[in-house]
Amino acid sequence: MTADDQKRIAGEAAAELVEAGMVVGLGTGSTAAHFVRALAARGLDIRGVPTSENTANLARELGIALVGLDDVKAIDLTVDGADEIGPGLSLIKGGGAALLREKLVWEASDRCVVIADAAKQVAHLGRFPLPIEVVRFGHPHTGRRLADIAAEFDLPPPRLRTADRGVVVTDGGNVIYDLASGEIGDPAALAGALKSVTGVVDHGLFLDLADEALIGTDGGVVRLTP
Ligand code: 5RP
Repeated sequence: MTADDQKRIAGEAAAELVEAGMVVGLGTGSTAAHFVRALAARGLDIRGVPTSENTANLARELGIALVGLDDVKAIDLTVDGADEIGPGLSLIKGGGAALLREKLVWEASDRCVVIADAAKQVAHLGRFPLPIEVVRFGHPHTGRRLADIAAEFDLPPPRLRTADRGVVVTDGGNVIYDLASGEIGDPAALAGALKSVTGVVDHGLFLDLADEALIGTDGGVVRLTP
């Protein structure tokens, strides 16, 4: 089974959790896209809250009714991918630069299910560089403050994310710094330190947010709880 097949079966299993009438948070990335497709195929009367413009476009193409986070009191269920799934369902997210809207939607949800291929499960968070979303105004200064914090945690300075067309800008108009670490010894302490920097909007550490994980493996979908 390829990694994409594993993502697909995890997405399909998550789509089975959705019931008619629900408000559903729609994650971002290739695994979440499998979920969105499987959800659309079920033809249920639901409303989706997208976590990115990309997901909103996909959901619209597939005929899923969308509402904004501002328009709902609560979200029944959010399903989203992750870059790493560590102990206790601690997560690194934001590889797709959607971490801020994702975290806002997750925090407004009664139940959060993370879906992934088997390679995303790790013994310690940190192999995947941690995305940090930073306001554009003065971001080189914020980047230097982040480098100081990284040094306190014995980590190298974070790097501004760029792509073919230059600096990556998020749906919220911010930039991303990626902190490559190898291993994050104390994710909660690092999360607190990063949030203390004024220019930091948020980071991709999702701690105590996931209620369960559905991991696609060659032997089928495995369900994990914290
Ligand atoms: C986007 C994310 C994604 O969920 C994460 O990057 C995983 O992506 P994929 O499902 O394509 O492997 O956090 O910001």
